[in-house]
Amino acid sequence: MTILGLSGSLRRDSHNTRLLAGARALLASGTQLVLFDGLAAIPPYSEDCEGDPAPAAVAALKAAIAAADGLLLATPEYNASLPGALKNALDWVSRPLATTPLRGKPAAVIGASTGLFGAVWAQAELRKVLATIGTRVVDRELPIAQADEALGPDGLPRAPEAVQALSATLDELLELAAERRLAA
Ligand code: FNR
Repeated sequence: MTILGLSGSLRRDSHNTRLLAGARALLASGTQLVLFDGLAAIPPYSEDCEGDPAPAAVAALKAAIAAADGLLLATPEYNASLPGALKNALDWVSRPLATTPLRGKPAAVIGASTGLFGAVWAQAELRKVLATIGTRVVDRELPIAQADEALGPDGLPRAPEAVQALSATLDELLELAAERRLAA
């Protein structure tokens, strides 16, 4: 089983990218989490640029999503929403709607912020965007607030309840991914 990890942050020392590394450590052997690191190379979306060939960075993301059994997205919160770079990438991948690799793809959303609320609004908005595109979204959130203190250097939350919540999110994502494999 392959899970594609997408961090909404382009920052070198991103808490969200580190949270994905923490999630990877919780996965059983036989399941791999591959990090997509090409978000910064995706150009601003324009309908004028649609059609073949897609920009290389967009094609790479589409291929990575198509090859994955499920997606784990970790998002920061920027001004009460998801970061523009992540929304822009999803807009690209959503087109054309009939053939997007996001359609029916299992996905889970987690997030960390340095504020008090753990990017809950960004996570809710990201789930809404994904559901609109037709992605099968796990109905859970993982708000990691005050991420400077709440996350360990390995990316795992320091609070045991948060580790349990992350595990539960991963379990649900993997269940959806297994169901989809069986149905294929
Ligand atoms: C933020 N941050 C932030 N945090 C929050 O909880 N709610 C918010 O609305 C915002 N808005 C916001 C806007 C902009 C432009 C920036 C740069 C930051 C703080 C943000 O969540 C924090 O810097 C995270 O640590 C960023 O995530 P990474 O890069 O550590 O993964």
